[in-house]
Amino acid sequence: MGVNGDPTHRPGLLIVFEGIDGSGKSTQAARLAARLREAGHAVVETREPYDCEAGRRIREMARGPEPVAPEQELAWFAEQRREHVREVIAPALARGEVVVCDRYFLSTVAYQGARGLDADAILRESESEFPIPDLVLFIRVDVATGLDRAAARGGPAEPAFEEARFLERVSAQYGAIEREYLMEIDGSADPDTVATALSRALRDRLGIVL
Ligand code: TYD
Repeated sequence: MGVNGDPTHRPGLLIVFEGIDGSGKSTQAARLAARLREAGHAVVETREPYDCEAGRRIREMARGPEPVAPEQELAWFAEQRREHVREVIAPALARGEVVVCDRYFLSTVAYQGARGLDADAILRESESEFPIPDLVLFIRVDVATGLDRAAARGGPAEPAFEEARFLERVSAQYGAIEREYLMEIDGSADPDTVATALSRALRDRLGIVL
């Protein structure tokens, strides 16, 4: 069976954080990884865009003034994900480790869907090509909160992605995804409250007690 085998038959666990910019997902991903380690799990912390050639092109595009066609974005995000899965995610899952990943294919569904591409098709194609997560924690905040938080850490570094109306569409795309593995968490509360909700989600969904 390839990397996309039935998640119940592979040794590791793939836990993904999703949300709009400023949702607090990166902070929560790091906290959760630390708690999993304290509980004795072998954890690999990773993120997308993955640091590779396609990932670098994506960052340049996001910083640059020239808009890039959504189809080109889609191709680059898929390319960095192939490398990410091959080099990091699939080997860790095969070793039986817990992968905590900050953004994964639902980012492509939501963001490139918000750019006008067919979100359903992206979702189906992603699920057939890449390992399906055991749990995706979608940290939901409203766009104004996300933008405030992003501004508080030094303003939008990537203006191509961080425009309010666009983020409203991204948020709507996330909200429209119907998958058993996707769980929405209220990210508007303080970090400790969000962390508690995440621990509860892991217990209920994966049987992991932290
Ligand atoms: P982000 O996690 O914000 O990285 P950083 O903290 O380094 O800025 O991701 C960068 C942007 O890329 C973010 O706005 C979401 C976007 N993105 C997509 O549009 N599609 C994708 O598939 C992924 C992984 C990210």
